[in-house]
Amino acid sequence: MTDTTTGTVAVTGGSGFIGSNVVDALVEAGYAVRVLDTREPERDDVEFHRVDITDVATLEPAVAGTDAVFHLAAMADVNDVFADPATAVAVNVLGTVNVLEAARRADAGRVVLASTVWVYGACTDEVVDEHSPFSPDTDRHLYITTKIASEFACRDYRNLYDRPYTILRYGIPYGPNMRETTVMSAFFRRALGGEPLTIDGDGMQSRNFVYVTDLARAHVLALAEAAENQVVNLNGPEPVTIRQLAEMTAELVGETGREVEVSFGPSRPGDLAAQTVRSDAARDVLGWEPQVQIDEGMRRSFDWYVANRVAPAD
Ligand SMILES: NC(=O)c1ccc[n+]([C@@H]2O[C@H](COP(=O)([O-])OP(=O)(O)OC[C@H]3O[C@@H](n4cnc5c(N)ncnc54)[C@H](O)[C@@H]3O)[C@@H](O)[C@H]2O)c1
Repeated sequence: MTDTTTGTVAVTGGSGFIGSNVVDALVEAGYAVRVLDTREPERDDVEFHRVDITDVATLEPAVAGTDAVFHLAAMADVNDVFADPATAVAVNVLGTVNVLEAARRADAGRVVLASTVWVYGACTDEVVDEHSPFSPDTDRHLYITTKIASEFACRDYRNLYDRPYTILRYGIPYGPNMRETTVMSAFFRRALGGEPLTIDGDGMQSRNFVYVTDLARAHVLALAEAAENQVVNLNGPEPVTIRQLAEMTAELVGETGREVEVSFGPSRPGDLAAQTVRSDAARDVLGWEPQVQIDEGMRRSFDWYVANRVAPAD
């Protein structure tokens, strides 16, 4: 697809946390959007196809006539994957192949896959980019394996059927509608409930948080031809340590008049080794840089959390 803003775009998982923001960004950019999901989208000005991605037959008509297919539907919570690994593989891996296959059969546009920088857990280098090789000799979560398999399938469809793809590896998305099981939600919940924030180890482990509207904006840019058959990391502006996250939470909750204690526990075995994930391709290929800094993003997320997740007092 070229840089015109007159196409039709499908979004699997368009009713979810990230997908709903991608849908908003696409609508705002002038695209006709079709949401493919098992549950209804938030907005009613988009086309909705109730589709289960494990069923290729219903996917095919749903992607027919689209210029691009953003594929975000997945079992996205690692705890769910841990609890039901076979379903996770069916939804994440078979589901991705079904989307690729439906797009091929329907002669739809490029498939853009939602992946994650967690795939770098399968790389042994300390500094990694989109070309870093995966090693089978690494200890991973099955969720990561499903994403690596999905990435490989995209590449295989290019190789076997000349089908174009783009892979977007997200940093850790946060913002309104984020899950309760994320570290940020957990900190907000505990701090607002008067519980101390306990950090494993010295809290210097860092994460790269990317605000969800920044992430969504990158999807619109990924429709440009330059992104065809590319892998692009979409990281936040800078790594944030867990200690910083706890301190910022304490500050935000402190503004509401509550005191928050931050304490440090023993380090957990299996904590991720420090790795630097390069973001050059996002700038060079997409012309994208994150705009929302962590303090602003956390403030917005906190305001949303208080308004939407905290039960009103009697
Ligand atoms: N949230 C994160 O931390 C994160 C990080 C990196 C990558 N990702 C990836 O981004 C994508 C979106 O994640 P999210 O956080 O918005 O997840 P989410 O759970 O909020 O949204 C997933 C959506 O997919 C839909 N879905 C699930 N199974 C389906 C099926 N069988 N058929 C059709 N629809 C189905 C769900 O109804 C939901 O609307 C996923 O591919 C996820 O793996 C997420």
